[in-house]
Amino acid sequence: MFTFTYLLSQHILLVEGELLTQMLKKHFAASGLLSLCFLAVSAAAIAQSSQLAATPPMGWNSWNHFAEKVTDADVRAAADALVSSGMRDAGYIYVNIDDTWQGKRDANGVIHPNEKFPDMKALADYVHSKGLKLGIYSSPGPQTCARYEGSYGHEEQDAKTYAEWGIDYLKYDLCSFIQIMKQEAGDEHSEKAFEIQKAAYEKMHKALLATGRPIVFSLCQYGWNDVWKWGPEVGGNLWRTTGDISDHYSRMEEIGFSQAGLSKYAAPGHWNDPDMLEVGNGGMTNDEYRQHMTLWVILAAPLLAGNDLSKMSPETLAILTNKEVIAVDQDKLGKQGDRVWAEGPKEIWAKPLSGGEKAVALFNRAPDPKSITLKLSDVGFGANAKLRDLWTGKSVTATNGSYTVQIPKHGAVLLRISK
Ligand code: GLA
Repeated sequence: MFTFTYLLSQHILLVEGELLTQMLKKHFAASGLLSLCFLAVSAAAIAQSSQLAATPPMGWNSWNHFAEKVTDADVRAAADALVSSGMRDAGYIYVNIDDTWQGKRDANGVIHPNEKFPDMKALADYVHSKGLKLGIYSSPGPQTCARYEGSYGHEEQDAKTYAEWGIDYLKYDLCSFIQIMKQEAGDEHSEKAFEIQKAAYEKMHKALLATGRPIVFSLCQYGWNDVWKWGPEVGGNLWRTTGDISDHYSRMEEIGFSQAGLSKYAAPGHWNDPDMLEVGNGGMTNDEYRQHMTLWVILAAPLLAGNDLSKMSPETLAILTNKEVIAVDQDKLGKQGDRVWAEGPKEIWAKPLSGGEKAVALFNRAPDPKSITLKLSDVGFGANAKLRDLWTGKSVTATNGSYTVQIPKHGAVLLRISK
């Protein structure tokens, strides 16, 4: 019921603002048609909202590799590489500029990019000409995490500017807004601070809607206040569930496996985001990157590559573009997977897929090879189920209702199972 009312009010706002709501009320209240009309509007709103991020967003983000050094040229090169490598055709559509693009505001308060990004509209046109979409980054606070200009007090103005440039995705990072929460509530962890935080995200969501341009809204507040419970309420299409990832196995593992239990909060249009991919950045082995990718697709996580796409090894490209692996992440049922079995460093996770199939991942978190046995009955299948190993692209067979496989240190096996 809450979702119904919420979507409804958002749609009305998108169409004409408060005035239209009042007019509709006056016109239809007497005739008793108000609820019928609202139902129709609501259906349209639901259809529209589920189109945006109907499956977990895929693309590239500048932060993990380029960090504060990212330039217009790097972003264009990433767009070029998405096309030439085949990544765009594998589904990687968003080209997201993270922190450090911001320059100063002019006398009218309008934000301008800094010298690293001479013409944001031209960059958006370039990215769009490649069949890709452009993402940008800001903060509800006065400053971003890298201390560049944030959107505090300029939310509507910034949303309008982004829409004018042709932006398709906004990552909105809490950063210095924590200080505002502290100032206004005394303690940034209090209930009052939580309400102030929610209002800040909702404010930007409304500003984005008011532009009339579909812009994916990505919440980044590191999972504070169980964001998965209220992310959809403030318009989030995705929300970071943790602090920052880094290109180390221990950090990827800590973040990825901590997602157990969150599956019920993901749905089309609304995704848990355990942070961007590190695949290809050089700090992990290919087995570790395969485990990273396997875990992310089982989690129905956004797949935002974070490497230098202009310099990719064939192994990196193979990990990022395995079509059958990506299809697990992008399955239209939109269900996140969860842990179904664990014994020390050995874990089995399962993700329901459309058509009654399931993706099942076997993980070895140990620093040495391990043999893992999957009992088909543990994931809801009988002894005659069909198994396909998605990393090797080969069918495999279970014996007496079980499948046993040897997995290298920090490796993973990903199966698609059907009746
Ligand atoms: C925070 C975010 C990162 C990145 C940086 C940029 O740390 O969590 O993903 O956006 O800010 O400053």
